[in-house]
Amino acid sequence: MLTMTPTRIAQTWAVAGLALSASLAFAQQDAAAEQAKKIAAGAGCFTCHTIAHQDSKDGKLPIGPAWEDVAKQYAGKPGAADFLTRVVLEGSNPYSSHWKNQASGIAMPPNAVAITESDTRKVVYWILSLKK
Ligand code: HEC
Repeated sequence: MLTMTPTRIAQTWAVAGLALSASLAFAQQDAAAEQAKKIAAGAGCFTCHTIAHQDSKDGKLPIGPAWEDVAKQYAGKPGAADFLTRVVLEGSNPYSSHWKNQASGIAMPPNAVAITESDTRKVVYWILSLKK
């Protein structure tokens, strides 16, 4: 017969607890992504952006960069979240595109009229977490 010593029981519970907290973490991530997507839709971001990278058709570039491309461009760059939050709220510099030959070249207008700073942060964190 299999006997469970108190240590064995404690170990079993510890393993179960770890598995449970890992799946809770995933559920929280999903919820955060869903919330960010809703905020972005409500603020009109998808007028100019897609989430997924699109290959240019007939040499046509997207209006704004796909957010998967943004995640790739800023991966591992310290301060990226703060920097992008400012660009989204205040708009991009019309004379110095960060997306030369990858997006339309027009400037992103300031979005502060459509989205709060804390919502912008949520969307930016989610954008930076995207993977192709
Ligand atoms: C009217 C079109 C338009 C809308 C609406 C828009 N964007 Fe943009 N966005 C752009 C363009 C164009 C660029 C590229 C700017 C450049 O060339 O540097 C851009 C760039 C970005 C970048 C990358 C910035 C950088 O400097 O690399 C992020 C992140 C971004 N947008 C997020 C958002 C979010 C979030 C929203 C909604 C709140 C939004 N955008 C709404 C057009 C738009």
